[in-house]
Amino acid sequence: MFPNSIVRTRTGLYRLYSTLKAQHVEINGVKYTTNPKICNVTDSIINLTDKALHLKESHPVGILRDLIEKKLNSIDKSFKTFNNFRPVVTTMENFDSLGFPKDHPGRSKSDTYYINETHLLRTHTSAHELECFQRIKNNIDGSKAGFLISADVYRRDEIDKTHYPVFHQMEGATIWKRTEAKDGSKEPTHIVKIRDDIKSVEDQLKKENVKITVSDDTLPLKEDNPKQEYMTDLEVDLCSQHLKRSIELVVSEVFNKKITSMVESKSNDIPKQLKVRWINAYFPWTAPSWEIEVWWQGEWLELCGCGLIRQDVLLKAGYKPSETIGWAFGLGLDRIAMLLFEIPDIRLLWTSDERFLKQFSKGSISSFKPYSKHPGSFRDVAFWLPMDKPDVHQVHENDLMEIIRNIAGDLVESVKLVDDFTHPKTGRKSLCYRINYQSMDRNLTNAEVNALQDTVCSKLVEEYGVRLR
Ligand code: PHE
Repeated sequence: MFPNSIVRTRTGLYRLYSTLKAQHVEINGVKYTTNPKICNVTDSIINLTDKALHLKESHPVGILRDLIEKKLNSIDKSFKTFNNFRPVVTTMENFDSLGFPKDHPGRSKSDTYYINETHLLRTHTSAHELECFQRIKNNIDGSKAGFLISADVYRRDEIDKTHYPVFHQMEGATIWKRTEAKDGSKEPTHIVKIRDDIKSVEDQLKKENVKITVSDDTLPLKEDNPKQEYMTDLEVDLCSQHLKRSIELVVSEVFNKKITSMVESKSNDIPKQLKVRWINAYFPWTAPSWEIEVWWQGEWLELCGCGLIRQDVLLKAGYKPSETIGWAFGLGLDRIAMLLFEIPDIRLLWTSDERFLKQFSKGSISSFKPYSKHPGSFRDVAFWLPMDKPDVHQVHENDLMEIIRNIAGDLVESVKLVDDFTHPKTGRKSLCYRINYQSMDRNLTNAEVNALQDTVCSKLVEEYGVRLR
């Protein structure tokens, strides 16, 4: 439905632009006028925008969302939940409001799905932070307020077992209203309150079966991850403790649930301790910023980015200067769900096959039992890049992925570059990609795979002007 064409940009690189015949797309019932030079959303992506897996209470993503929400709200119910935001947002919401520099790579069209200059499919739930800070403004009278946002997010990416162009994130934030020290008392009330809040989270942490061992060499803060001027050292220290203990609580809840289910199913290699570590990070709208990683089955898994929210965001949300301090985090749900429920292929999260969906039920963590393994079928596509376009590969691998995904959808398991060769005499460059066609639900026939492969090949010739080998 959306034919594409190659347009030469001023920098001389060839870009794959969608030349939408239709000048409009409809997403979640809203019609948007597209800019054909910018628009790179495809039918297959638009079809995913109303799935809302995070709201399905018996779906692994929905079960995990619910588990984390309940845990975080088990202490004082201070998090207001926002789970119905639609995926189309403005560049202002997704980037500008958060202080993304104009040349930040996250803004590029090879990574992000754009509809026109001003509208895109959100790349993270942080796109709704500003609005949520505005919406909890009246809740902060009780000196503390927070929110949790869960939603589907979109990023153009490669195709394999752990990457899908849509996944789910949960965003969380807490803010405290600052107060002056009252006469006669040593500490302002908000400091006393944050200390109490930290204690409450620590008490919860102590109740977990398997205790978490935390290493944190991000402290003391250094100049590459500095604090904000407007906060005192004590506030930074307390806010970060509350943030870090809250995230650790989420991590220990999730992994303890997993360990319990491993014990019940008498699995091998049940971990006796949970190791996590804090590392420095950078996000334009938090300072300082960190990430947490957990040691799981022999590797460090990145779980969550976070930091102390920049005053700028709070000012934009209508708070008075120096009125509030707080933190925010963002966590990817799909990879954690795959690990918890032992789901080997990310496409399964999107299947409507009852053999998958029937295996899960609200509030319980169980291991997925593969119903059958349908064989994969490999096909190689090898081609010479046009001589005058040597950079096509480096710049546009995601476009190639998109072409394949648009033709074969969830019937592609993975696409891998298997050969990259430059002819020594002519300087001509050739690439070979190996596509694994495999359905999760049924056997594919040879004829069907051949037809898909033929379409992919001719699309590549048409879109890229490549010469097949
Ligand atoms: N939005 C960030 C991401 O997608 C995560 C994040 C959220 C970091 C909130 C800091 C604060 O990577």
